[in-house]
Amino acid sequence: MTDTNTLRSQALSAIEHCDSSATLEEQRVALLGKKGAITEALKTLGAADADTRKTLGATLNQIKQELAEAIDSKKAQIAAVELNARLASEKIDVTLPSRPEIRGSIHPVTQVIEEITAIFADMGFAVAEGPDIEDDAHNFDALNIPESHPARQMHDTFYLQGNGDGKTLLRTHTSPVQIRTMTGGQKDNSGPPFRFIAPGSTYRCDSDLTHTPMFHQVEGFVIDKDIHMGHLKGCLIEFLKAFFELDEVPVRFRPSFFPFTEPSAEVDIGCKRSKDELKIGAGNDWLEVLGCGMVHPNVLKNCGLDPDEWQGFAFGMGVERLAMLKYGIPDLRTFFDSDTRWLSHYGFDALNIPSLLGGL
Ligand code: DAH
Repeated sequence: MTDTNTLRSQALSAIEHCDSSATLEEQRVALLGKKGAITEALKTLGAADADTRKTLGATLNQIKQELAEAIDSKKAQIAAVELNARLASEKIDVTLPSRPEIRGSIHPVTQVIEEITAIFADMGFAVAEGPDIEDDAHNFDALNIPESHPARQMHDTFYLQGNGDGKTLLRTHTSPVQIRTMTGGQKDNSGPPFRFIAPGSTYRCDSDLTHTPMFHQVEGFVIDKDIHMGHLKGCLIEFLKAFFELDEVPVRFRPSFFPFTEPSAEVDIGCKRSKDELKIGAGNDWLEVLGCGMVHPNVLKNCGLDPDEWQGFAFGMGVERLAMLKYGIPDLRTFFDSDTRWLSHYGFDALNIPSLLGGL
């Protein structure tokens, strides 16, 4: 007959002495596995008489449960110890000076965001932020994007499980920050007027030569009284001149459609394309650089603003695209390869912070 007391105390002590996930797993198999000690003991019950079966069966099952709990708590203990050991072994001292041979550089995306921010900061824009994980109310509804808009279709948008209602997603553009800033401003009484840019990551379920599933945009918007298209044009032309560091830049506002602006336009800059060169600022070709328009009255209403009192303009630009144009980077996908040769070629000095005074 099985000596349950000895079995129990030996098993508990074996579990207690395990010092790694691997040895604990071996113990689990040796005790509770198909051929484990407890399993074998339970098998002997069949041959026992009814009384023994009842009492011994109950005791063994109780021990089985006790051992399973002991294994679980030991498992958690070992995991904590293993994690601490790993954290200690991977600790880095961030206060150490950098070593010249592995000197880091600023990624062109970061650099261009900083340049854009410096230019708009000079025009009196503040920087706003919003979450990468959005809901369809902010990403679509409030921006006057009806259910039938192509951007709503699954192939564009990464939907997340969220609450299971199909309403949580990775933002497909930075425009929801318009909504968050305007409605947030209502709540804490800080606005309008508003004059913000919102740089950040955006996501679309798209990947080919000219699209990556994650990319960056800078949104901009101004809400004030008596704002008109002239303000929009002046602001963007000044921006493009500063960004491309040109005294004059040919700019074309081409009518377009965005659900959240009316009228809407796409902005092209003049350029010259030759076989293997692209020169910005001269020539007979045009290159699209951003989308813009006057904020749609419905968007203002959705944010609790009266369109008869407040007007505004908004724009959105792709950071990688602007970086490619300005710094002659030919292939979008290389941005996210983490290739150190690429980074040391196209990267920027960390101490050289862009400013209009110091030059971009
Ligand atoms: N959200 C647009 C996109 O991702 C870009 C855009 C266009 C933003 C026009 C704007 C705008 O604010 O006015 O394609």
